[in-house]
Amino acid sequence: MSEASNSVAVDGGAAGRADRAAQRRAFASRYALLPLRLFLGVTFVYAALDKLSDGHYLAGSGDPASFVSQTQAVRAGSPISFLLGPALDAPTLFALAIAFGELAVGLGTLLGLWGRVAALGGALINLSLWLTVSWSVSPYYLGNDLAYLMAWTPLLLAGTPYLSVDGYLAARAGRDRARGLAEDRVKRRALVDGGIAAVAIGGAGLLTGSLTRTFGRGGKSAAKQSAAPVSSAPAPAGPAPSVPAASVPVGGSAQVKDPATGDAVYIVQPKAGQYCGLSSVCTHSGCAVDAPKNGQLYCPCHGSRFDAATGAVVNGPAVKPLPRYGVTKDGDQLKLGPLQS
Ligand code: FES
Repeated sequence: MSEASNSVAVDGGAAGRADRAAQRRAFASRYALLPLRLFLGVTFVYAALDKLSDGHYLAGSGDPASFVSQTQAVRAGSPISFLLGPALDAPTLFALAIAFGELAVGLGTLLGLWGRVAALGGALINLSLWLTVSWSVSPYYLGNDLAYLMAWTPLLLAGTPYLSVDGYLAARAGRDRARGLAEDRVKRRALVDGGIAAVAIGGAGLLTGSLTRTFGRGGKSAAKQSAAPVSSAPAPAGPAPSVPAASVPVGGSAQVKDPATGDAVYIVQPKAGQYCGLSSVCTHSGCAVDAPKNGQLYCPCHGSRFDAATGAVVNGPAVKPLPRYGVTKDGDQLKLGPLQS
């Protein structure tokens, strides 16, 4: 083979490699937002079904894990506290609207149907959560709602044009234009079919959410919880841990271990003669909360605070109260009782 033909072959090979590299880069750019879209979509569907299946979520203000208790807990420290009044006037309606809103956003994002609208809905939900639940988290970057709000931005800007219902409708609109269909008919067709798909997906979401609500985790209402005999809860395995009563002054605490789990439990005396145990395991991500101080337990990981009398969340990101234990006084000893919630 001549030198010239060798040189052509080498140039051709280099050009082929450059082409393939360019194709790979174009492919990566095209689907760059897909992992984010899947994550946000799955997370919102999961969050919605988790709320709808949680019996505590719609319980009344007597349940510290309920929507109304959580909203009341964050209201004072929120810059949009004036907007929370209507939510507290009709808590069931708002709580269901949030859960079904999250479900609609999650399904719309996953399927890529009206992707920008879904991303706007997700951004608004996270904006409202940031201004309420995460507002008191310090430093700010530990509050996850702000990160979610930022994560919606690329989808809000780019939409969901690939591997999506939006992509299918856009491609079909292109074919309609190519065969000479009038522009207003093209748009109307895309809008009507998008609407039909939205109604179908919304109906499926509503059915799923309703079934989840009906057959979900059988949380008890606050009334049922207070009526339930404490002795029906499982008692800690092994001998009940105890501490001298004198080591738990009013407002103070002593630490014992739950023999069943090995987790530390604070025995507290919020009012003279009233004792209870509070798990030291933060319900946000499992960090150990600090001992009670000034009526609260503080989690150093992301700044959640819990009421030292009830374990209720004072501010997030945790949304569930610390598990409570019964405590009995036996002579000058305080004995850890069964887990109550
Ligand atoms: S606040 Fe995140 S683990 Fe406690």
